[in-house]
Amino acid sequence: MEKTVKVGLLGLGVVGTGVLEILADHQEKIKKSIGASLVVSKALIRPGEDKSALAKKYNLELVTELEAILADPEIAIVVEVMGRIEPARTFIKKALLSGKHVVTANKDLLAQYGSELVDLARDQQRNLYYEASVAGGIPILRTIANSLAADDITEVLGIVNGTTNYMLTKMVQEHRTYEETLKEAQELGFAESDPTNDVDGIDAAYKMVILSKFAFGMTVTMDQVKIKGIRGLAAEDVSMADRLGYTVKLIGSTIKKDDSISVEVGPVLVAHHHPLASIHNEMNAVFIKSSGIGESMYYGPGAGSRPTATSIVADLMTIVNKMKKNTVGHRFTGYTQPTKITPPTENISKYFLSLEMPDEHGQFLKLAEIMSQAEVGFEQVVQEKGDGAHARVVLITHATSETKLATIQQAIKEKTKYKLLSLMKVMGE
Ligand code: HSE
Repeated sequence: MEKTVKVGLLGLGVVGTGVLEILADHQEKIKKSIGASLVVSKALIRPGEDKSALAKKYNLELVTELEAILADPEIAIVVEVMGRIEPARTFIKKALLSGKHVVTANKDLLAQYGSELVDLARDQQRNLYYEASVAGGIPILRTIANSLAADDITEVLGIVNGTTNYMLTKMVQEHRTYEETLKEAQELGFAESDPTNDVDGIDAAYKMVILSKFAFGMTVTMDQVKIKGIRGLAAEDVSMADRLGYTVKLIGSTIKKDDSISVEVGPVLVAHHHPLASIHNEMNAVFIKSSGIGESMYYGPGAGSRPTATSIVADLMTIVNKMKKNTVGHRFTGYTQPTKITPPTENISKYFLSLEMPDEHGQFLKLAEIMSQAEVGFEQVVQEKGDGAHARVVLITHATSETKLATIQQAIKEKTKYKLLSLMKVMGE
């Protein structure tokens, strides 16, 4: 095999620049590990973009047509760091069809078109690796696919969106508002170009779709994921949760029950003593329950230039090793199971409800009746002194099904004048 493996880079933004830096700074170690040098020889940029300083520094050719990379027989691997669906999807397909291996960090693409791309790579006997697509710098996909391959995973809980974790941390610790913290996260560069995907839970949902495939072998579609973001989350409820012994976190969960899974993203009350409650600011963590290991947690930065680039370069090195051994064409994860989603009757959790109700006699009795008719018990109840006309009542239910919770919501809507201010799952005891 060639002593130098050439790489074509699609996109030269923050992550693309990180790839150049990691390859340059760690070149000796990389060469000793894989027995070859990895060199980015060409980078695709948009017409009009000025990246000449980078091109000079890293001795690479800038091109504005994909064809210049695909038609170059010396380029063996293409790295896609453009993000979003198009043109990334078309470019990756063309790269695979041209006989290139591909590394990508694109979670949107893998979550929505993963099967199509993985199948194409296999048909072409090429490798497609995407470690950086979930929790950037944490090597979680490789860990699940390799190190936990012999284990039976039952639960994957993730703080997999740095923007919302940063916002929630600041809201709890510094009593800052939603708007202030979002602005800061954008300035610090964690947020997506459109932060809607962060705050509405979509970015985390993409990552949970990918994690579900690795942990349970199931191909879940985005419409099978129950997604709720943190938009409009009231600071009062975050503080109340804290008083009751919980930290509010945006949790992505994929949980197995018998032969089905439930995949969700939403603000969750996590018990203070649970390891995920201690993940602060923009950091990410993935907590796994499995029958062999028990509990394990993987912690690190979920975004950023060098952490993400480190995962990408590790993928490049994996591919070079496979090229050397002539074992290309295998999937990143070979685990496949029939996809089955847990029905709402079987999806069990405790819930936190925050209600605004008229501050008058008989209201608690009405609430107790609704709960009793749904056969759901109270675990904790708190009423705060209101403005005289209204009271805020917060409760945590006993463990119940999604179906019974829906009955309670319906009864509140039809039989009372209560306003449901927040509804969150409770976990981690
Ligand atoms: N916007 C994402 C986050 C970046 O905040 O975690 C990494 O996918």
